[in-house]
Amino acid sequence: MNCSSFGIGLAGLGTVGSGVVLALERNAGLISARTGGRVKLEIARVLVRDLTKLRPVALPDECLTTSWRELVEDPAVDIVVELIGGTTDAFEIVAAALKAGKPVVTGNKALLAERGVELFALSKQHDAPIHFEAAVAGGIPIIKTVQESFIGNRIHSIVGIINGTSNYILERMTSAGLEFPAALAEAQALGYAEADPALDVNGWDAAHKAILLATLAYGFPIDPAKIHVAGIEQVRPIDIEFATRLGYVVKLLAVVREHADGAVELRVQPSFIAQSHILASVHGVFNAVAVHGDAAGESLFYGRGAGQDPTASSVVADLVEAGRSLAQANGHRGFLPYREAGELLPVEETETAYYVRFDVTDRPGVIAEVARVLADAGIGISGTHSPVKPDQPDADFLDMVFLLHTCSFGRLQETLREIESLNCINSAPVVFRIEKL
Ligand code: HSE
Repeated sequence: MNCSSFGIGLAGLGTVGSGVVLALERNAGLISARTGGRVKLEIARVLVRDLTKLRPVALPDECLTTSWRELVEDPAVDIVVELIGGTTDAFEIVAAALKAGKPVVTGNKALLAERGVELFALSKQHDAPIHFEAAVAGGIPIIKTVQESFIGNRIHSIVGIINGTSNYILERMTSAGLEFPAALAEAQALGYAEADPALDVNGWDAAHKAILLATLAYGFPIDPAKIHVAGIEQVRPIDIEFATRLGYVVKLLAVVREHADGAVELRVQPSFIAQSHILASVHGVFNAVAVHGDAAGESLFYGRGAGQDPTASSVVADLVEAGRSLAQANGHRGFLPYREAGELLPVEETETAYYVRFDVTDRPGVIAEVARVLADAGIGISGTHSPVKPDQPDADFLDMVFLLHTCSFGRLQETLREIESLNCINSAPVVFRIEKL
């Protein structure tokens, strides 16, 4: 039996990094057995910020370094794992590893979505793969699915809940009536949130993941500046109450879809989805991704989208794959973009039904005023609601909700601008999509 031992250079010993060390300790025998004894993985060096800090995992002192160059250049390091996050130091580490011909494993979706073009070019140039299963949907093997298992499918769409923190927050706001900050604090304490939780709540963590999935599905680099992203910061308990009353749940949804002319629609936003739809049952930190391929039809992938062990599971899978490739010198090279460019569908041309909440000054005729502008724009109304609080029956301001029939987002935006200029409207309307999935 030809057994090869590979040294890992682990950059980052936070929640996920510690999980990787623990998973490798726990399952070393299993990994070796499952690779026919060909791959043995050992932690060779670990990059930390502070050498004196107490660690959740025991590692020999000589393993630790505060210099990423030392880690990447160490001859004992065969595979570099980047888990520090961000797009600056992380970029330097990944680029240096690739230039040294060392395979990279990363969970950094922001890095790949923002700077993937440069890094995949380096990967190709130096024949060193980048593995990134942990970058999307935590423990769900969705990268491998899209990249390998569905390689023989034309992908019609990928729709999913791909940010565990947002899903957890929405869930806690719904089921426990928590306010947004309390729900976010819980998600952070559980290790679900990004180092910068703004990315979780403003939709960009999900958008980075959607960009990676779309790039794998359609083969061309996607400019983050060209996609429409909205987060859950605007969701208030009243929206959740309305959704429930109307038979919906509110979810942060990522939608990637290829249109008949080849244009790719890509957007992330809070959406109303029917309570009866399977995605409505995705609770807490769980993620679910529905992939529709022309041959396979619709498949749904469900699992824990964040957290120490699920994310470490994906990192370890990538490490084994990197080890296998090194051992056999015939593994695949990771992702190679195969188109120079493709067309993104402008968000203005995307079409759904909508839930729109207006903050209005209550006076006779306000509903009619808003309804007239909508009618003039040819936008149909399927329902209106304006709950009056029992303890404030004569309040001057109220929330007025309109459910609107399907129209283009561009027409909606234009019409809402007109409505916003009415005297009775006090602030920018809040819009959520109603997805017919
Ligand atoms: N912060 C991310 C989430 C972690 O909540 O989904 C996994 O990428």
